[in-house]
Amino acid sequence: MQIALLAAITADGFIGKDKDDRSFDWTSAEDKKFYVSHLKQSDAIIIGRQTFNTFHRYPKNSHWYIYTSQPEKFAAPTTPTVQFEATNVPPAELLEQLKAKGYSSVALCGGSSIYSLFLQAGLVDKLYLTVEPLVFGTGIPLFSEDLGKLPLKLVQTHSLSSQTLVLEYEVVSRQTMK
Ligand SMILES: NC(=O)c1ccc[n+]([C@@H]2O[C@H](COP(=O)([O-])OP(=O)(O)OC[C@H]3O[C@@H](n4cnc5c(N)ncnc54)[C@H](OP(=O)(O)O)[C@@H]3O)[C@@H](O)[C@H]2O)c1
Repeated sequence: MQIALLAAITADGFIGKDKDDRSFDWTSAEDKKFYVSHLKQSDAIIIGRQTFNTFHRYPKNSHWYIYTSQPEKFAAPTTPTVQFEATNVPPAELLEQLKAKGYSSVALCGGSSIYSLFLQAGLVDKLYLTVEPLVFGTGIPLFSEDLGKLPLKLVQTHSLSSQTLVLEYEVVSRQTMK
């Protein structure tokens, strides 16, 4: 199972100006294309309730797992070709459920709390960080929890345009979950 964290960051490392920020309002056209293409190739999309609320469109046939402390209160959008499931199970348990369904690729779509939750659990294989040419000064950081000094390996860079770069990292200490 391949778990890929996808995030667009400012040059000063923020993923949002505030909790209601919508990243698509400031990311480049090239990153939107890169991001949507990655979502379409993923068997499942894992996301926090706050970030999910900023989405208005969903790739056809996609499977969304939305973290919320109150799954019973989650009202899924009415989109017949898309599946939504609210969850509050620990990350390893959710991934076991997805593995049992035969899924092999997961896009981890944030925000800060969900990225941190999965990284703290040692369940992320790769990070795709799109660096956009702007700074916020203050805002929502990529991670909201102490992650110690987690080592990464830069495996590739993808130049989406003269202005936008994707840094593809591997998590060195990823616990194997085959
Ligand atoms: N630039 C990017 O690539 C990018 C990507 C993603 C997000 N963002 C930005 O990040 C910000 C939102 O991030 P965020 O960290 O505030 O919110 P978030 O991670 O999207 O969602 C937080 C919510 O997830 C649920 N949750 C978190 N941990 C949980 C757990 N262990 N068990 C069950 N539910 C859990 C809770 O929902 P309930 O309140 O329902 O209990 C919590 O309020 C926005 O500004 C958004 O635009 C940016």
